[in-house]
Amino acid sequence: MRAIADLDVSGKTVLLRADLNVPLAGTGAANTVITDDGRIRASLPTIKELTGRGARVLICAHLGRPKGADFAERAAAGPSLRPVAERLGELLGQPVPLAFDVAGTSARQVCGELADGGVALLENVRFEPAETAKDDAQRAEFAARLAALATSYVGDGFGALHRKHASVYDVPGLLPHAAGELVVKELEVLRSLTENPERPYVVVLGGAKPSDKLAVIANLLDKADRLIIGGGMSYTFLAAQGYEVGKSLLESDQLDSVRQILAEAGRRDVEIVLPVDLVGATGFAADADHDVFPIASFPADRESLDMGPQTRVLFADKLADAKTVFWNGPVGVFEFPAFAAGTRAVAQAISQVRGLTVVGGGDSAAAVRQLGFPDRAFGHISTGGGASLEYLEGKTLPGVAALEADA
Ligand code: 3PG
Ligand code: MG
Repeated sequence: MRAIADLDVSGKTVLLRADLNVPLAGTGAANTVITDDGRIRASLPTIKELTGRGARVLICAHLGRPKGADFAERAAAGPSLRPVAERLGELLGQPVPLAFDVAGTSARQVCGELADGGVALLENVRFEPAETAKDDAQRAEFAARLAALATSYVGDGFGALHRKHASVYDVPGLLPHAAGELVVKELEVLRSLTENPERPYVVVLGGAKPSDKLAVIANLLDKADRLIIGGGMSYTFLAAQGYEVGKSLLESDQLDSVRQILAEAGRRDVEIVLPVDLVGATGFAADADHDVFPIASFPADRESLDMGPQTRVLFADKLADAKTVFWNGPVGVFEFPAFAAGTRAVAQAISQVRGLTVVGGGDSAAAVRQLGFPDRAFGHISTGGGASLEYLEGKTLPGVAALEADA
């Protein structure tokens, strides 16, 4: 995989695919307040490296998952990258003009006005339905229009590398290309988790659904020494062991797969750590009444929204001797302060670990920042949840394959 140092960029237009998919507060047209600008900040080193070498940097990025039949419908419904262009301009200390379209008249005009060292942003690439099309020819036609805007391509959108999308997968095939600094760094960290992790290697998995994570768990049984499972997905694991979980999140169609995973973990001597007590609430609300229940006596009419105090101690204890940690997914509804204690305890315990600690994914990254942990409390905060999980599953990420291939 080539690095940007290998590209001749001075005075040339570089199409930079970044992942600027930041969380926004509000709804509809008022959906313009960035609640965590981590992904924008993580994209700065590559942008600055390119501008510092006199490149004209044309950034292509997606935001959310726009809906609508065509460009016009999607552009009308949003979300627009406007707030991102503004924030990026503030962080760079230079204006970042935003094109009104992705690869049309406005894009060409903005591109033509770029000076050496200048930065401009194309509008949300997912306003073009072809970006995410399953049909190769549709993506190829759009990719050619994007590629025509520049003389080289830099792939730095780590969080989207698992998507076989035109701007991630097809455009690099059409231009001399290289991986950006963020992608290089993220892949380096993931490689050290996979190739020779210092042991014990402990993985903490949370988030809503086991179905999203069974494949990665299966793969991790080969690599990790201990798996701590909390949050929404842990209720299906508890149910698989015969516990009552009341109205807690449950994927009943996954019970068999979960039982197989538990049996396989036993055969391979991988320790699986599950909650021993839960915070059962009367409903899904920030101010819902709640009590702590041991898992053996969880009431049928309650819904678990967080890990109980004994579980917090247990999880911290199971992290204390770790030399390598990967964490993906909050273990409670941390957005509600009353149900944030479990996630805070996990973050706290990981921040004490001496060794490589990796927090993976948008939600977990947002969680630790919202709970007030500084980024330096962790070895690495990944900008990609899905991308890092698919990497750890052992899959080849389409965006990595495209960057590795010759053009
Ligand atoms: C993310 O937020 O996980 C990445 O930006 C990819 O976005 P997506 O899940 O909508 O493809
Ligand atoms: Mg995602």
